[in-house]
Amino acid sequence: MTLSTLETASPALDLERIRADFPILDQEVNGHPLVYLDNAASTQKPAAVIDAIGHLYRHDYANVHRGVHELSHRATEAYEQARGKVARLLGIGDEGEFVWTKGTTEGLNLIAYTWGQANIRAGDEILLSVMDHHSNLVPWQLLAQRTGAKLRFLDIDGEGRLDLSALDDLLTERTKLVSIAHISNALGTINPVTEIAAKAHAVGAVMVVDGAQSAPHLPVDVPSLGADFYAFSGHKMCGPTGSGGLWGRREVLEAMPPFHGGGDMIDFVELESSTYAPLPLKFEAGTPNIAGAVGLGAAADYLASVGREAILAHERHLMAYALERIAEVPDLTVYGPRDPAARSGVVSFTLGDVHPHDIATILDGEGIAVRAGHHCCQPLMRRLCVPATARASFYLYSGTDDVDRLIDALHKARAVFGY
Ligand code: ALA
Repeated sequence: MTLSTLETASPALDLERIRADFPILDQEVNGHPLVYLDNAASTQKPAAVIDAIGHLYRHDYANVHRGVHELSHRATEAYEQARGKVARLLGIGDEGEFVWTKGTTEGLNLIAYTWGQANIRAGDEILLSVMDHHSNLVPWQLLAQRTGAKLRFLDIDGEGRLDLSALDDLLTERTKLVSIAHISNALGTINPVTEIAAKAHAVGAVMVVDGAQSAPHLPVDVPSLGADFYAFSGHKMCGPTGSGGLWGRREVLEAMPPFHGGGDMIDFVELESSTYAPLPLKFEAGTPNIAGAVGLGAAADYLASVGREAILAHERHLMAYALERIAEVPDLTVYGPRDPAARSGVVSFTLGDVHPHDIATILDGEGIAVRAGHHCCQPLMRRLCVPATARASFYLYSGTDDVDRLIDALHKARAVFGY
């Protein structure tokens, strides 16, 4: 694709209409119209999500699965309908396989504490990668410390793609679990999780996909990825904070012990022991995040109405444009795959020896929000031999005009730092 073909707005989305759906975008920051490019950290919320939460609290709120009164019925219906909406968006046909969580981190910890505690023994191996974020490292470190298991790691190549040449050697009969990010939050690399899952299964290992960055950006059909678990966060896909989900294959979830104990996850309770509710409630102890679920359901409806394929086409177009334009800025180092189709949502970069926090501060002065830091990937930063990067990350409301503002501001930053 040439720059001239990329200069026009993506034909996939009506950007003006999409932006009008997000009230927060219509403001000035530091005297400039806001450009929000911190979507890998968290996305903004359309009015439909904000209104769905407000409507629940104004009209239909009570606790769920408990009351015989009208409001409890309505709240339960809204909560369970939301489960269906999110499940459908992700291609999950069996709603019993969809567990509400606080987000990706809780989903991965749930697996580590339940499946992991029941199945991992001293000497077993858990395969991760050096590009994974802390949510997909620390729960497995804790599990390894509790059980005596060993962690192994896939490395990356010079373009920030997983080095799969080592996969066959790393996977052995000792490997019991493989957990890999579908998309790297720091590099944008899209990982071949289906291929990795097939190889993991061939040695009898369970495959976990960290979907924090893929559920928002790819039209994922979760069961067809070929994995056993898929964890994702609501707040990265237009939903509220503290919402998210974990998909697991029914037979794997059925065989797992519960995670948290308490109300709603039980069937029959004696003083000394209990039996548990059927899936998915077995993993949903206590009063859940009802408004979070309803908000995420509204986000799922919203994303479905825009169209998952259209969002992907728009972001591909934008990524190609961003990579081409950012290459015009001297002294910038860009991390991650050069092929725009091999990455999603994220452009991480450094400018000479300027600390990324200083770049982000200059950009903020221009009304542009990016994240600077280790992106919850300290081992990856060490592997890249940088203390941190600046990261621009896109979503459906981002446009080539946002990229142009970013590029102009980066030229200003170069001048400020004497480049
Ligand atoms: N994992 C989130 C990020 O990438 C917080 O910024």
